Amino acid sequence: MKEILGELEARRAVARLGGGEKRIHAQHERGKLTARERLEILLDEGSFEEFDMFVEHRCTDFGMEDTKYPGDGVVTGWGTINGRTVYVFAKDFTVFGGSLSETHAQKICKIQDMAVRNRVPVIGLFDAGGARIQEGVAALGGYGEVFQRNVLASGVIPQISVIMGPCAGGDVYSPAMTDFIFMVRDTSYMFVTGPDVVKTVTNETVTAEELGGASIHTTKSSIADGAYDNDVDTLLQVRRLVDMLPASNVAEIPEIECYDDPERTEASLDRLIPDNPNKPYDMREMILKVVDEGDFFELQESFAKNILTGFGRMEGRTVGIVANQPMVLAGVLDIDASRKAARFVRFCDAFSIPIVTFVDVPGFLPGTAQEYGGLIKHGAKLLFAYAEATVPKITCITRKAYGGAYDVMASKHLRGDVNYAWPTAEIAVMGPKGAAEILYRSELSDPEKIAGRIAEYETQFANPFVAAERGYIDEVIMPQSTRRRISRALRLLRNKTLENPWKKHDNIPL
Ligand code: HXC
Repeated sequence: MKEILGELEARRAVARLGGGEKRIHAQHERGKLTARERLEILLDEGSFEEFDMFVEHRCTDFGMEDTKYPGDGVVTGWGTINGRTVYVFAKDFTVFGGSLSETHAQKICKIQDMAVRNRVPVIGLFDAGGARIQEGVAALGGYGEVFQRNVLASGVIPQISVIMGPCAGGDVYSPAMTDFIFMVRDTSYMFVTGPDVVKTVTNETVTAEELGGASIHTTKSSIADGAYDNDVDTLLQVRRLVDMLPASNVAEIPEIECYDDPERTEASLDRLIPDNPNKPYDMREMILKVVDEGDFFELQESFAKNILTGFGRMEGRTVGIVANQPMVLAGVLDIDASRKAARFVRFCDAFSIPIVTFVDVPGFLPGTAQEYGGLIKHGAKLLFAYAEATVPKITCITRKAYGGAYDVMASKHLRGDVNYAWPTAEIAVMGPKGAAEILYRSELSDPEKIAGRIAEYETQFANPFVAAERGYIDEVIMPQSTRRRISRALRLLRNKTLENPWKKHDNIPL
């Protein structure tokens, strides 16, 4: 018996070494941790249980029958994050560059299947060179199996991808179909085809970082939802996010002890809006003052900064927050902002996370660049997302809510449950200046007259009361009481039930 136990330990030790000391050393030299070291940081201490540790590839081409490593380039299993179960897989770059073989894919598929069956999140750590070149079509088939499962799991369990090294070829599409992608700055990159292929096909000279580094995917392409300085920081942030997410689309929203008084008032919010309606202010300040303990997990922070998206908690329960940011482009809705917020709203709705929307929006961004880029369709995504969402929707208009953007931003007309406005709100078809200039075009040559018309329009419409008189606003509230009001509204809506008509699926303007 002792001998048998000894053999198990010996086999485990070999598997834990992955591609061997030399390659582990090379991994560390690059500032990267190994797959198992990463899982140790991601999961609660001692909670990781590994599956398929002894699985090996079955390839016999290119002399592969003589080169086998137990585990075959991916470490899979389950563990807990602050006590809550998650399934995990981590590509092991020390084994064939983490490349995907048929058996490697089967290991991932097993994890995906179990996670869906048991309704808990899947987290994938990527650090790999794409399809196992020696395996050819068997590897492609493996990718297809993983992709299919990503799609079936979408909207059922949260799927999170963390890019911690190269992620190229077949490896990019699985993360692309998950809910969130995080990257490690400077050591990770993602692209469909690498710099060498780019050079051959388009004659462009580009580095891996310029083509698909974190700096690109968090600012230009919006592929990544966040980037952090190193492996440890990134994995700790993923833990923070997982804490806020429900385990599945049928699970309760996680609730933690709340030490921040839901009745807390914030006198400083009464002074947040500048006297000059064209002066910006920081909507992030508003969010931080409203959510529990100023804890806001922001997503896509460096992309489409004119809209803020992220998770916070109210009375210890997760809420999704969407907010126009007047500091950037006056908080206008453009293509990027619409896409960013639409995807976030749909995630919240799929997982029954209430949505709190703060509105200060001057409208949609005019111009050929936007129209040629399909602003109509992209703007419609956000409109569609809000309109189809059945989760509790609470809206607070702080200042401008002009034109179509008023409708889009979780208005009463899109089944907003509780719609508040601050006394500083201006709810109108457009700003007073634009309105007066169109209505009184003939008076444009007379600055005094037109100024009078602007003032007239301002008095008439630049307030929340016209909308409140129609019931489009449920209540005009004191800014300082915003946290209290939203907390109460969320409590009121805890048992909300609303169903859309049955359909196979909708046809959101993609
Ligand atoms: C088999 C691979 C591999 C692969 C890397 N390795 N990629 N083995 N299949 N795809 C092995 C190397 O042979 C090497 O083995 C070890 O991993 C480390 O690789 P290096 O090249 O030494 O490392 P580095 O210089 O850091 O470069 C990493 C890399 C590069 C950028 C990922 O290896 C690379 O470009 N790999 C090929 C990428 C690629 O073209 N993949 C196929 C994409 S097509 P040793 O034994 O020396 O440690 C694809 C199609 C799927 O994925 C489409 C589905 C939709």
